[in-house]
Amino acid sequence: MSAPLYTIPGVPGAAAATPAPADEPARTVAEVLAQSQVEAVMDELDTDLVGLAPVKSRIRDIAALLVIDKLRLNLNLAAQTPSLHMSFTGNPGTGKTTVALRMAQILHRLGYVRKGHVVSVTRDDLVGQYIGHTAPKTKEVLKKAMGGVLFVDEAYYLYRPENERDYGQEAIEILLQIMENQRDDLVVIVAGYKDRMDTFFKSNPGLSSRIAHHLDFPDYSQGELLQIADRMLATMNYHFGAGTREVFADYLALRLAQPHFANARSVRNALDRSRLRQASRLFAERERELTRDDLTALMPADIRGSRLFDTPTPPATQATT
Ligand SMILES: Nc1ncnc2c1ncn2[C@@H]1O[C@H](COP(=O)(O)OP(=O)(O)OP(=O)(O)O)[C@@H](O)[C@H]1O
Ligand SMILES: [Mg+2]
Repeated sequence: MSAPLYTIPGVPGAAAATPAPADEPARTVAEVLAQSQVEAVMDELDTDLVGLAPVKSRIRDIAALLVIDKLRLNLNLAAQTPSLHMSFTGNPGTGKTTVALRMAQILHRLGYVRKGHVVSVTRDDLVGQYIGHTAPKTKEVLKKAMGGVLFVDEAYYLYRPENERDYGQEAIEILLQIMENQRDDLVVIVAGYKDRMDTFFKSNPGLSSRIAHHLDFPDYSQGELLQIADRMLATMNYHFGAGTREVFADYLALRLAQPHFANARSVRNALDRSRLRQASRLFAERERELTRDDLTALMPADIRGSRLFDTPTPPATQATT
């Protein structure tokens, strides 16, 4: 399974946000913030993303470090580019990819990367099948990522200790070199499950020592997942109709107890399936004029159609109903 290699362009109009060399270099935090417009990205991060308090606060810390670094640079105090490589650990669907995109915007606005795009890869994009294929593959990816962020999802798959001749090691070595030598032009973010990432770092001290910032993404609470559902529906021009939000809360409780729960990603998938049921429900009413509300509301039946509600009623309650 290979995730597609995709690039996400930087913020629209970001070029304009990069301040032209001002007559006077910034001397205050406010001036750096005004020149870079980085605060807008941080505010968006706060408002667009539900929960993630520890992640948001770490990002503010990193941004503060970079702003101060700019001020130091302006007084010729900085000695070297700060190390910005990061690791994002957490379960699936906890927002790692989403936050990486925002991080790239922040780094771009503060002038730490030229372009601010994100190139997202997995092992298969970096490692070849045959001898001699890995180096060119990895270098091609790095070329695409230069000036932005290279996001390596499930990075631990690069390292397969059970296979002595695994080509993943070659990709890691090239990565390490670039992380060291070109850190003024490329930020690497490795991501994945926390426990597997810890083991990976233990076996690869070279990598671990080059990563300055470790951000841990917690699982969402049920309340946060509900809020995420509200946000997702709003951006798709849908909403929970009367009584539906409560049914979705029941759905979440059932789903959380199932295996392979993937946080916000599971919420998105559940909403997609509900939209299918809503469409089938409306499709059946051939002659009815469909109002704006009909077309945008998910109703309790659209959620209850899920298999999770099929579980047989326990005998005790069956007797009384
Ligand atoms: N805090 C949040 N608020 C609103 N939406 C969120 C939040 N976190 C994640 N999402 C949404 O959930 C979906 C999954 O998030 P994302 O892809 O960033 O997770 P991930 O941790 O990278 O998952 P995976 O490990 O499966 O790749 C996206 O559509 C994203 O917009
Ligand atoms: Mg992801």
